[in-house]
Amino acid sequence: MKIELAENYGFCFGVKRAIKIAEENRNSATYGPLIHNSKEISRLEKDFQVGLTEDYKTFKPGDKAIVRTHGIPKDELAELYASKVDVVDATCPYVTKPQQICQEMSEAGYDIIIFGDEVHPEIRGVKSYATYGAKVVTTAEELENIKLGEKIALVAQTTRKVEDYMKIVNYLIPRHKEVRVFNTICNATFENQEAVRKLSKKADVMIIIGGKNSSNTKQLFSISTENCEDSYHIEDEKDIDFMWFKNKELCGISAGASTPDWIIQNVVNLIEKSIH
Ligand code: F3S
Repeated sequence: MKIELAENYGFCFGVKRAIKIAEENRNSATYGPLIHNSKEISRLEKDFQVGLTEDYKTFKPGDKAIVRTHGIPKDELAELYASKVDVVDATCPYVTKPQQICQEMSEAGYDIIIFGDEVHPEIRGVKSYATYGAKVVTTAEELENIKLGEKIALVAQTTRKVEDYMKIVNYLIPRHKEVRVFNTICNATFENQEAVRKLSKKADVMIIIGGKNSSNTKQLFSISTENCEDSYHIEDEKDIDFMWFKNKELCGISAGASTPDWIIQNVVNLIEKSIH
């Protein structure tokens, strides 16, 4: 049996970058979970003494605070700097971008609309950068009751689908003199989905690695099952059953965006061992 990894899988660029930053800054703490993966967060704590706090006010002058991948609200960041905390910013650059756009466009007199989930940490952060406020919506219908000026600027949460964003754009354009649309959607999770689709069409067994609660891993698993009925969702190598590989020729492997490389490597090593 041959083993093939999907063309894109596992951590996105922003998460890899944040982990590298955390590893380079021992004896620090992240404000909020750096990423959505508890095993990786425990590893950073154990091997690099990178702790976690949910309250930025616990940082004292001279402490090292790592800003999470999703970013944090502008006033909290300013307070950290003002209290002489050593701030290390691990905000993904694809998140910094909509933050900057919100600030610039708000100050240039545009009404800001954010397409996304109001309570998500990324959106709480992005919204805080709109100097004169912003409206957050998930559907075009929600815009019906919002009073807006002639000039609108629009940004989207990085993980949203373009087709859904277009519905908001299509609603606004006929109703306003000027609509500035910024494509702030990040393709990383979609690249993983496309790659799993391609691989599962030719593999006769598929292994998808990721947390049982990870929604993007479940999405990968469901795409995989559509094309390859022998698809298995596992959390790590302990979940493997060698019977799955009996009489199989090609085993495809993918992993969710919050699955660390070391877990993926453990799975690959064990499958390789089982076929030799
Ligand atoms: Fe990852 Fe940054 Fe995109 S954290 S999913 S590369 S917005």
